[in-house]
Amino acid sequence: MSSSSGKAKAVPGPRGLPILGNIPQLDNELHKTCASLVDRYGDVFRIRIGSRDVVVLNGTEAIRQALVRQPLDFAGRPDLRSFRSYKNIIGDNISFTSHSPGWKIHRKLAETTLRTFTAGSKMSVLEEKVMFEVEELISCWTNNNYEEVVVDPADHVKLSVSNIMLSFIMGRRHQLDNQKLLDFVSLSDDFSKATGSGNPVDFMPWLRYIVSGTLKRYESLLHSYKNWFGSYVEDHKRNYQEGSEDDIMDYLTTSTNNMDPKELEVAEITKETLQSTVYDLFGAGFDTVSASLLWALLYLVTFPDVQKAMYDELVKVVGKDRKPSLEDRRNLPFTQAFLAETLRHSCVVPFTIPHSTTRDVVLGGKYNFYIPGDTVVFVNLHSVQHSKEQWDTPEEFDPARFLTADHSKLDSSKVEQTMPFGAGRRRCLGSELGRNELFLYVTNLVHKVRFEAYDKDSLTMEHEPGLSVRPLPFKVRLALRED
Ligand code: HEM
Repeated sequence: MSSSSGKAKAVPGPRGLPILGNIPQLDNELHKTCASLVDRYGDVFRIRIGSRDVVVLNGTEAIRQALVRQPLDFAGRPDLRSFRSYKNIIGDNISFTSHSPGWKIHRKLAETTLRTFTAGSKMSVLEEKVMFEVEELISCWTNNNYEEVVVDPADHVKLSVSNIMLSFIMGRRHQLDNQKLLDFVSLSDDFSKATGSGNPVDFMPWLRYIVSGTLKRYESLLHSYKNWFGSYVEDHKRNYQEGSEDDIMDYLTTSTNNMDPKELEVAEITKETLQSTVYDLFGAGFDTVSASLLWALLYLVTFPDVQKAMYDELVKVVGKDRKPSLEDRRNLPFTQAFLAETLRHSCVVPFTIPHSTTRDVVLGGKYNFYIPGDTVVFVNLHSVQHSKEQWDTPEEFDPARFLTADHSKLDSSKVEQTMPFGAGRRRCLGSELGRNELFLYVTNLVHKVRFEAYDKDSLTMEHEPGLSVRPLPFKVRLALRED
């Protein structure tokens, strides 16, 4: 057992009903239930979902203790129904697979691959791709004339962002009016609902006979993902040329062909599994970024003064004759503060993907709680992003909280207090790419387009629960800037 100090205590928590456990007490938005349980039991408590105990970690201290100071202890993924369906239909993967030697090789390869294509000297390629997609998005909305139009941005934003990943992965993109892809991306919310923390069907598999809708839709979405994306993958594989590193797929094939087969055998992982990393990167890469971008648009139309301040800063620093690029970022403190506040306030991923303990552990630091191996662990990122101790008025949207007192610079120490990408061994592996994409989309959109609320009274920060959360449907009035 790791991190033991004295006699460890059991994790406290509410009593539950037979069979259902604490399910009747759980709010649709799990973070609300957690806030009241934290008041009663502290940062670390136990709930029972069906027949399984779930330990919930809340607040920076408990989360850091577990994920950063005891990284291996909490790096597992539980065996959940939705994760199993993913493995059965799509195949072995990084996101829903527990910590193991094979998983480590898989994750490392994915990190190296992503860095090779989207960071360092390749950042200019990312810039070109996003700038191109922004132009396409704007012309799809405005038809390139100055008349005001009203649009629901959700599906086109998803499609646009998914084009970035498609292009890195296999050098292709789709027209923004491609109905097949629009149908597919509009289903992605079902994926998020099924894999979010606390989906009861995950904990009581028999429940699927009673409330089978979500699971059925989720599994049928996985089948369409496999059919649609899988056919591109197979097409692309047929055209592979020995040694090519032209795009992510070719790079993965070439890298895995060069790996020592013995090493892979010992780690119980195959070349085919490693090559299927593209499913992880595409799925994880477009959903979160497009949801964040939609939140950014919602904040821009809800708070016109914020949009004006960002536009004024862009004009001052970038001017009107060229497009904003990543080089400009350090000179755009207000824009950076807006993006940090967008990720904090919207809390796009309110709970990480569920974790599990990899062995019997004692949560150290001030806690000293005994947690048996293979216990499901929910990590409540919302409790960090909306902590009353950490942030004054956490429910208010206020980019200035990330600026220094004279508002001249970004206060990086404040940004470091946020945790939009999780922490430790399972931290998001696309965080840099995600941040860069968001910066480029938001700056290039605001630089060229004026956004307004279509119906101010109907704007709401409410959302559906899920692994990632996006705003409820909303419309914006927009026009190309003439000034
Ligand atoms: C604003 C954008 C993004 C946000 C807010 C975000 C957030 C997160 C969070 C909170 C997790 C869960 C960490 C955990 O389970 O402890 C995660 C996992 C992951 N993310 Fe992201 N993400 C974003 C963009 C991306 C992008 C662009 C990619 C790749 C192209 C990506 C790939 C992944 C993968 C593969 C995992 C699973 C890691 C693992 O299980 O080891 N994400 N992300």
